[in-house]
Amino acid sequence: MRSLTIRKPVDLHVHFRDGAVLDAVVPHTARQFARAIVMPNLVPPVTTAAMAAAYRARIEAAIPEGVDFTPIMTCYLTDATDPADLIAGHRDGIFAAAKLYPAHATTNSAHGVTSIAGLDPVFAAMAEAGMPLLTHGELVHHDVDIFDREARFIDAVLAPLLERHPTLKVVMEHITTSEGAQFARSHGSRVAATITPQHLLYDRNVLFEGGIRPHYYCLPILKRRSHQLALREAATSGAPNYFLGTDTAPHLRHLKENACGCAGVFSAPVAVEAYLKVFAEENALDKFEAFASLNGPAFYGFAPSQTRVTYEERAWTAPASVSVEEHQIVPLFAGERVDWALSRGL
Ligand code: DOR
Ligand code: ZN
Repeated sequence: MRSLTIRKPVDLHVHFRDGAVLDAVVPHTARQFARAIVMPNLVPPVTTAAMAAAYRARIEAAIPEGVDFTPIMTCYLTDATDPADLIAGHRDGIFAAAKLYPAHATTNSAHGVTSIAGLDPVFAAMAEAGMPLLTHGELVHHDVDIFDREARFIDAVLAPLLERHPTLKVVMEHITTSEGAQFARSHGSRVAATITPQHLLYDRNVLFEGGIRPHYYCLPILKRRSHQLALREAATSGAPNYFLGTDTAPHLRHLKENACGCAGVFSAPVAVEAYLKVFAEENALDKFEAFASLNGPAFYGFAPSQTRVTYEERAWTAPASVSVEEHQIVPLFAGERVDWALSRGL
């Protein structure tokens, strides 16, 4: 039986929501991760340091007794973001980073940015403060094919943005294409990318296997196999530009299994195990600690966890659902065999 002992992983991209959903999902992330970067796309979005501090307190209240887990907060950028407020929130230790959602690109992005160049004063202030910008990198126009949105964003928005702000640090969140992987690596230490488990495990065919499969629907959408393979190569390369960010995004079952289903894959209950499956298949378990526990903290400038955890290759069955009051959320691998299991903390 293979096993692997590593520093406790960090999830650099999670959605916890709020209220009863938050209470149900936080324990799943807290069980496996030392810290997580928490996305701000609530309704209304987290746009001020006071809102983020209050949200952080609600997350902390949902962490099970005795579990050592630190949520790290982000600010939702809007056309009205004030650079001075944002940087004050960063200096006060509330905001680690700010998230750029192009308006209407994804879940709860209605307040997102309509004119990205209009935020140049914000990006300039972030660059000076060393505060990373996190991008949802999709160009959303009705004449851009959904499968091309990421590559088009890189050319039309991200490349010019990096030229205008040569010291701004950027995380390309949840990359899904070979273009995304290539772009992150070509910018040295100031650009990095998170990669989700589902984009490593699947290609777009899984969305239509025997019928439409809403639980695999997320944004950016799964791409063709050649892109999946490029992402697997990137994640397992050990390069510091890539790190773990699950984009775990819980939606209630009836809102996914719906004529207009929500985007998002809830991976938290099986997240580390899902990545381990990929790294084991690629014979790259020796690169897993860099991807899961070291590269992300190094980019953000915080120390990796001092706690070590052991995973072993041992089969178990993922839960079919996680309950939230009278509702359910269907996780990744629902009811399926999982090959790896958390063994023990040392
Ligand atoms: O699939 C997604 N779900 N992509 C996102 O960008 C947002 C997320 C959510 O919040 O549900
Ligand atoms: Zn996300």
